[in-house]
Amino acid sequence: MQPVLAQPPVATSPGAPVQVVDLFKAYGEVRAVDGVSLDVRAGEFLALLGPSGSGKTTILMTIAGFEQPTRGDVLIGGRLVTNVPPNRRDIGMVFQRYALFPHMSVHDNIAYPLLMRRVPRAEIGRRVQAALELVRLAGYGRRMPHQLSGGEQQRVALARAIVYRPPLLLMDEPLGALDKKLRAQLQLEIKHLQRQLGATVIYVTHDQEEALTMADRVAVLHRGRLQQIGTPEALYEQPANSFVADFVGETNFLDGRLLACRDGVCTVALAADLTVRAALPDATYPALAPGAAVRVAIRPERVRLARLGPAAAEATSCSGVLLERIYAGPSVACVVRLANDITITARVPSDQDPSRWFVGDPLLVSWRAEDARVYPAER
Ligand SMILES: Nc1ncnc2c1ncn2[C@@H]1O[C@H](COP(=O)(O)OP(=O)(O)OP(=O)(O)O)[C@@H](O)[C@H]1O
Ligand SMILES: [Mg+2]
Repeated sequence: MQPVLAQPPVATSPGAPVQVVDLFKAYGEVRAVDGVSLDVRAGEFLALLGPSGSGKTTILMTIAGFEQPTRGDVLIGGRLVTNVPPNRRDIGMVFQRYALFPHMSVHDNIAYPLLMRRVPRAEIGRRVQAALELVRLAGYGRRMPHQLSGGEQQRVALARAIVYRPPLLLMDEPLGALDKKLRAQLQLEIKHLQRQLGATVIYVTHDQEEALTMADRVAVLHRGRLQQIGTPEALYEQPANSFVADFVGETNFLDGRLLACRDGVCTVALAADLTVRAALPDATYPALAPGAAVRVAIRPERVRLARLGPAAAEATSCSGVLLERIYAGPSVACVVRLANDITITARVPSDQDPSRWFVGDPLLVSWRAEDARVYPAER
């Protein structure tokens, strides 16, 4: 028999790595989760992003142990926990609706997980105090939940989740019930807190902005399937498919037929006399055959507008007519009609004075081929 060598711990972070291996979860006919694998690093902040019903909560509940997978496994800290009950997985959880005990004071709410773990009384007082300070609610211990604002209640829920320093924190839309400003503030606070604690965080949201600002990596889900996992920048700059391009950030989609591809750059006919250029999503992308129905995706801020004149040599360009100009503070959305009634939106920084263009003006529309992506058309 081979001697078993003790492995020295490699992680310097107190966070636990999490592996989800080929997870399936069916409710009757519904495949809530359809073959998802995730490899979350120790101390990483991973966002699970997707529209309603895409399987985010189901994945989180399976990691927590409140749901049993139909197939697949979950490992926390390298330990197989698929059959371990939730209370023995050492996880802190925060949900969308503040699940505070309404009849208990803030102090007692936060002390609860420590009582469950039979931590000595003197120690409990000290740790509750420290947790309250971490969420910036020192002095609130004696209040009852109904005497707190929504944001304060959510911070108490956070304090309760972190008070026993779990190596893994699971959060399901914890800021969903709060207004935009408070959300933004608490997003930063949670992020700072996570860095301080070093815990691994898996954070469910359907808000792409929240996912992009908070997470080290984002996993995009759609109909129970993982569409792409990557850094916010990779998701935004190199969406793996048209769903991700559509869900993360704003995108123009232009439907057409592929004419040819060469060195990763394709020409696409949108109409009889309207041909544009766009890049393949990445070098490994399966080849698209000439004649295939495709969609070209281009971000509004990458679309350039100019008065009609000679086009830049590297650019794909076409002429259009300004249909609408929508002021939005830092930028102005300009909707331009191209040939065949195809419309495209360009987002122009306000300081570039798009107000010098008027509805009905003829404009030159262009973009760099590498800023646009070509995807197979959805069936
Ligand atoms: N207990 C259940 N019984 C039957 N179907 C369920 C159950 N729980 C979830 N589902 C279904 O599984 C799918 C995924 O649900 P899930 O709650 O994971 O989605 P979600 O991404 O969290 O959505 P939301 O953003 O609305 O919270 C949905 O189609 C849902 O209707
Ligand atoms: Mg959910």
